[in-house]
Amino acid sequence: MSSVLQKLITPLASGPSEPPRNKVTVVGVGQVGMACAVSILLRELADEMALVDVMEDKLKGEMMDLQHGSLFLKTPKIVADKDYSVTANSRIVVVTAGVRQQEGESRLNLVQRNVNIFKHIIPQIVKYSPNCILIVVSNPVDVLTYVTWKLSGLPKHRVIGSGTNLDSARFRYLMAEKLGIHSSSFNGWILGEHGDSSVPVWSGANVAGVNLQKLNPDIGTDKDSENWKDAHKMVVDSAYEVIRLKGYTNWAIGLSVADLTESLMKNLNRVHPVSTMVKGMYGINEEVYLSLPCVLNSSGVGSVINMTLTDEEVSQLKKSADTLWGIQKDLKDV
Ligand SMILES: *[C@@H]1O[C@H](CO)[C@@H](O)[C@H](O)[C@H]1NC(C)=O
Ligand SMILES: *[C@@H]1O[C@H](CO)[C@@H](O)[C@H](O)[C@H]1NC(C)=O
Repeated sequence: MSSVLQKLITPLASGPSEPPRNKVTVVGVGQVGMACAVSILLRELADEMALVDVMEDKLKGEMMDLQHGSLFLKTPKIVADKDYSVTANSRIVVVTAGVRQQEGESRLNLVQRNVNIFKHIIPQIVKYSPNCILIVVSNPVDVLTYVTWKLSGLPKHRVIGSGTNLDSARFRYLMAEKLGIHSSSFNGWILGEHGDSSVPVWSGANVAGVNLQKLNPDIGTDKDSENWKDAHKMVVDSAYEVIRLKGYTNWAIGLSVADLTESLMKNLNRVHPVSTMVKGMYGINEEVYLSLPCVLNSSGVGSVINMTLTDEEVSQLKKSADTLWGIQKDLKDV
């Protein structure tokens, strides 16, 4: 007596099933991890998604909840486990695990606590997906991307930090709002350290190629009567503001990570401000990660755009690098 399945379906292809081609793993199923996962699913970038966390019930619940949305998604396999074997053959691994920034806590205070967590996570990821590209999202992101690079043993172009991708998105939103245009039409970059010492590149801010600094030579300085500098201050303050209001930030970072994932997955060669190893650039002599405009393709960071920065901007970048190295040099077990 044959089963319904046997009666219904005549198999044609045979042979072993193939490994996934576009698998994405998200490590950490907190608010940020799930926002990344959902954004990536909705952008239809993955043929398989794996979730990993140490909280087993939460993990299974999130997996089931996403699986129940399968009808509305184009990712046919969604899996989860606390064991990293579930992540095998990932092309991209998004790391959001770690302890979260508390209200009023500086990102840099989090470091050593998260290093200890990463010592467990990163070698497991690399063991099961030796060819993956790692996107580090956990804060403080620049230091933790450096830590991840060290712990992973991967080449630097395959270890990327989400960096100032979000800061730049916030900046473009705020500036574009003031100008009454869409974010995508205001071109502006925030580079350097994600967070308090990030560097707004006023010398490059433009709309349709029209340089705002040419229209207002004082833009971004204290002398500016229009006080455009405030937009950067709002970027720096806005993470703290959102945390104060809702307890965490997640949607914008999730959307921004999905955008990076798209450039990597589809070999787009789009330029994003993300954290990369900058030793040797702009007179920086230490192994630090900070954000520069990076060309992202299927290899990871294919190349870095050599910006024409003012002396002031270069010295701000160096200051960010010094701040980060000041922390990194005291880290244990990296
Ligand atoms: C990514 O870009 C780099 C630099 O241009 C290039 O060497 C590499 O081959 C590119 N990778 C792919 C997969 O096209
Ligand atoms: C980047 O540009 C600067 C200034 O124009 C130049 O001094 C430097 O050599 C360039 N770096 C590379 C790698 O071309």
